[in-house]
Amino acid sequence: MIRKVKGTRDVLPPESRLWAEVENTAHRVFDGFGYDEIRMPVMEPTELYVRSVGEDTDIVAKEMYTFADRKGRSLTLRPEGTAGVARSYIENGLGQRPQPLRLSYFGPMFRYEKMQRGRYRQFAQIGIELLGAATPAADVEVLLVLHTFLAELGFDDLVIVLNNLGDPEDRPVFIEQLKSELEPRRVELCSDCQRRWDANPLRILDCKVARCRELVADTTPVADVANPEARAHVEAVEAGLNDLGIPVRRAPRLVRGLDYYLRTVFEVVSPELGEDTVICGGGRYDRLIADLGGSQVPGIGFAIGEDRLVEVLPEVFRQEVFDRPLIAVLPIGPDAAAPGLSLSRRLALAGLAAPAEVTGRSLKAGLKWAGKIGARAVAILGESEIAEGTVIVRDLENSEQKTVRLDDVAEYTRRLLARSVEASTGSESNDGHERVG
Ligand code: HAM
Repeated sequence: MIRKVKGTRDVLPPESRLWAEVENTAHRVFDGFGYDEIRMPVMEPTELYVRSVGEDTDIVAKEMYTFADRKGRSLTLRPEGTAGVARSYIENGLGQRPQPLRLSYFGPMFRYEKMQRGRYRQFAQIGIELLGAATPAADVEVLLVLHTFLAELGFDDLVIVLNNLGDPEDRPVFIEQLKSELEPRRVELCSDCQRRWDANPLRILDCKVARCRELVADTTPVADVANPEARAHVEAVEAGLNDLGIPVRRAPRLVRGLDYYLRTVFEVVSPELGEDTVICGGGRYDRLIADLGGSQVPGIGFAIGEDRLVEVLPEVFRQEVFDRPLIAVLPIGPDAAAPGLSLSRRLALAGLAAPAEVTGRSLKAGLKWAGKIGARAVAILGESEIAEGTVIVRDLENSEQKTVRLDDVAEYTRRLLARSVEASTGSESNDGHERVG
């Protein structure tokens, strides 16, 4: 037996329906705020990530799926989406379009990481990028979109944490300060942090080892070293979020694992998964496009880890997705097969979920099958129904059945399924306006 590659997953039905509905919700919310989808290649020149995410980051140093193609070019399976967006912006002259440009993206990313809960080697991200706006209002918008999306999924317990990394000019000052404060205890840092000391000292702040956490807890926050303009920027972002009633918490030691960030950085954590399993990460990257050879175009965005998000989806959302009512179409006898499929099409086009029996089961076996797949009702088509242009619709919950004219079957079924949804959720009667498919 051939098995899947370690760190990859099969998302099977009905779980896959959660994914689809999460993506539908994202499209609806993002589109509403004016974000249009960009579809980018899954592989890019390796150099793109070296120059954007940064050579000394974990991602580039040890997590990329990099290979030589048949002509010896070094390619990499994308570990994230922002670099590809920046590359595409420059290459396609997207700066010519009205600014700011609002883009969303969905799809698989690849990182060779140690396997653990919520950490995969192929995982999916849902992200947005807002390019060409440097104002605090742009940051507020991006966080508003994030908050709105999560609220639409029914989350009320997620926490947005935010920090101010200052500008790149502030970084050497901060690093010097950090090192001078940690120097006396340097030997107590873990071996990874010993390496980070020279390669990427900012990441010491992000170490998960308890002793390292204790040691950095007393150091000066990076935001305190930021220049006044950067400070005013992030304070204005916080004020804007406050005006909108979006709760965020300052996380003075929050740094991110990618080098392109400056000023505003943020993450979303879930009480269920804990602070080490971040659901969403994002921030501002005003130098990225210029660093990749484009003009000075500021940007800000986020990416949500869809695998992790689906894992902690609120129960109400899951129920709503899984409760989608089905009507099974049951043609009786070989001559009924085509009319059965025709009925399936009629119901499907009316927005109902109506799988047909196509293996030639008898009425009795067909009803049993319908029960097994969770159908609420069955549309039975026998010789006489076909001759008369009717269908028998049977409610599987109370075994009542009624003969309905073909032309009326979609509306009749819609009402019947809506009633059974109401009964199961105890919601008010709202004939004909229920979500049933
Ligand atoms: P990131 O923090 O590296 O940021 O990844 C964003 C999210 O992807 C994480 O918060 C996490 O939920 C998910 N993720 C990352 N690695 C894995 C993994 N191995 N398994 C499952 N989920 C994972 C970025 O990628 C930036 N490009 C975000 C951004 C967009 N910044 C500005 N715009």
